[in-house]
Amino acid sequence: MWKILFIAALSGGAAALVSQDLDQHWEMWKSTHNKSYQQKNEELIRRQTWEKNLQLITLHNLEFSMGMHTYDLAMNHLGDLTTEDILSSLAGTRFPYGLQRGRSTFMGSSAAVLPDSIDWRQQGYVTDVKNQGACGSCWAFSAVGALEGQLMKTQGKLVSLSAQNLVDCSSKYGNKGCNGGLMSRAFQYVIDNQGIDSDASYPYTGHDDQCKYNPANRTANCTSYSFVARGNEDALKEAVATIGPISVAIDATRPTFIFYRSGVYNDPSCSQAVNHGVLLVGYGTSNGDDFWLVKNSWGQGFGDQGYIRMSRNKNNQCGISLYACYPTM
Ligand SMILES: *[C@@H]1O[C@H](CO)[C@@H](O)[C@H](O)[C@H]1NC(C)=O
Ligand SMILES: *[C@@H]1O[C@H](CO)[C@@H](O)[C@H](O)[C@H]1NC(C)=O
Ligand SMILES: *[C@@H]1O[C@H](CO)[C@@H](O)[C@H](O)[C@H]1NC(C)=O
Repeated sequence: MWKILFIAALSGGAAALVSQDLDQHWEMWKSTHNKSYQQKNEELIRRQTWEKNLQLITLHNLEFSMGMHTYDLAMNHLGDLTTEDILSSLAGTRFPYGLQRGRSTFMGSSAAVLPDSIDWRQQGYVTDVKNQGACGSCWAFSAVGALEGQLMKTQGKLVSLSAQNLVDCSSKYGNKGCNGGLMSRAFQYVIDNQGIDSDASYPYTGHDDQCKYNPANRTANCTSYSFVARGNEDALKEAVATIGPISVAIDATRPTFIFYRSGVYNDPSCSQAVNHGVLLVGYGTSNGDDFWLVKNSWGQGFGDQGYIRMSRNKNNQCGISLYACYPTM
């Protein structure tokens, strides 16, 4: 009798923690995104997170419909993740305070005449959007993205380069594979290694592995790299316009970032404590809002086909111009 009461109380309690109205939609979401959970307990916790995210998205979009935001949100494949999950498995860039910024710094020149907008995808400088999976290898995807742009610029060929090559082989430079790394250290590895393999010859596995770099499949080299003047969005604009796609680090842990769908992202609560490596592939202005065009590595299901337009000239929002760097070929 006591046992039965106890079980009833437990299951009653659990049921109250999720909204049964959403049962059918939870099942639909799981099957759409091919989610399965080993334990009932884990599923309960994921379901609660998903419901919280769903409510946040719904309320934001209600506010958007009343003209209160410049961007809207949508549920996606990341719906069962908390900010902590994102930090531990999807972001992975930890720029140490006082990082050596290397030999040269791109300062920009106030006299430069620059286009009002640029989108390097239209010039064929940008490969398709990748998905890093549950591995903190954002830094490697950001780095290969910048190298791919320079390969196109110098040799006229667009080839996906191997992020796995960087994950497996650059630990000597302080990178930690799926546990994070820095784009500048990835460039230094490619310089010293005298090359990086193509993605086709050294495909992505999404976990730490033995280094299998093969010089026979070397597809690009790197001769040096530079940082852009810290916190200077004018210099960063000039770098994007005159050099090509640029690696940057941002704070990517706001739920508004994770569920961004379209428009110009603007979240003043986004911090300057950067944790995620991405690729700037352009900039522009939409309805009076200046933006950076950013390529992420969370698959095409993230944002706008894998991309997000982030606020530009809004006090370095999300720390976007703190650690901008690019390779030279
Ligand atoms: C769905 O997940 C299962 C196992 O978790 C996997 O074997 C299968 O390939 C996945 N299918 C798709 C379409 O992602
Ligand atoms: C990589 O190089 C090997 C030769 O060592 C070659 O057999 C293979 O086809 C190359 N792979 C690709 C994708 O080019
Ligand atoms: C890279 O540099 C090495 C050594 O200088 C050279 O042998 C090789 O041809 C270069 N490869 C590419 C893809 O540029």
